This record gives sequence, structure tokens and C-alpha cells, in this order.
Amino acid sequence: MALLEIRLLGAKVLREKAPPVEAVTGETRRLIRDMFDTMYDAEGIGLAAPQVGVSERVLVVDVPDGDDARHVHALVNPVIVESGRETDKATEGCLSLPGLEETVVRPVRVTVEGLDPGGEPVRIEAEGLLARALQHEVDHLDGILFIDRLSPLKRSMLLSKWRKSSSAAR
Ligand code: NI
Repeated sequence: MALLEIRLLGAKVLREKAPPVEAVTGETRRLIRDMFDTMYDAEGIGLAAPQVGVSERVLVVDVPDGDDARHVHALVNPVIVESGRETDKATEGCLSLPGLEETVVRPVRVTVEGLDPGGEPVRIEAEGLLARALQHEVDHLDGILFIDRLSPLKRSMLLSKWRKSSSAAR
């Protein structure tokens, strides 16, 4: 088990558009394993490679779905190929912005295509929390954070809260 350092708001890598993975290799699979370890250790439900300092299009999610069911996925080069028109609101947080939470509006349903850790094509028709987590993580691959999905007012309120808490920590 290897824990990777989670990069926080302010790290340049979080704002870069990550390039696609050219070939899914053993190195990719090791990154995915380490990302799962890191995500579970931090008690998150999703993690994108840029959050551990790797600018590559890789994400992992482990989303609960009632009745003890879970959706566990690792995706390489994920693309949202369809978004439903219906949207809903839910509270989101992010391991790169610890302590911050806000309501984010997103489509309820998305279809995501990508490669699995074996390099095989996968297609996921997701709704609810899984759809939300996948959209949040795909955003990370484009350098987008959930605070960018808020109104300017809410965003600046969260950022000032962030600055206060990070200066208190120093
Ligand atoms: Ni996040």
C-alpha cells in the first residue's frame, strides 16, 4: 500500500489540463492502486490523478449506492459522451479543498466512456451520486474544481474561508 500526497488548492497541477494516457501499462495500474489506497485513507469517494501530482487522465471512484452496493471504477482517458438535461443540486467537497463544502448543480445522468485498468473500453451509464462523482473527477482532469461551478459570490465566500483556515494552520 502506498499513500500519495494529496495536492491542495494552490498547487499548479490542479489547474492544468491533463494529457491523455498513451498506453495503459503496469505503471498506470500501480498509479491506480496507489490512488485507491490514498482515496480510502482520506475517506473520499473519488480521486483524480492531478490531485496526487500526476498530470494524466486517470480517475478512481468508490461510490455507495444504498443496500450495501457500491460502484467502484478506475477509468483511464474518461470522456463524458452524454449528459442528461435534468439537473439536481447536492453538497460537494473535495480532498484538495479540505473543510470546504457547497451545493453544486450538475446533470443527474451522464454516460462516460474510457478504458479500464486492463486497457479495455468501458461505458458507464451513471446517475445520482455516481454521475456526480464522475463529473467532479473528470472536471479535475481539465483543471476545473467544484468551486468553479458556483456563483461568483459563493465562490469568493468559500475562497475567503479557505484563506482564513489555511493562514490559521500556519
Ligand atoms: Ni475533487
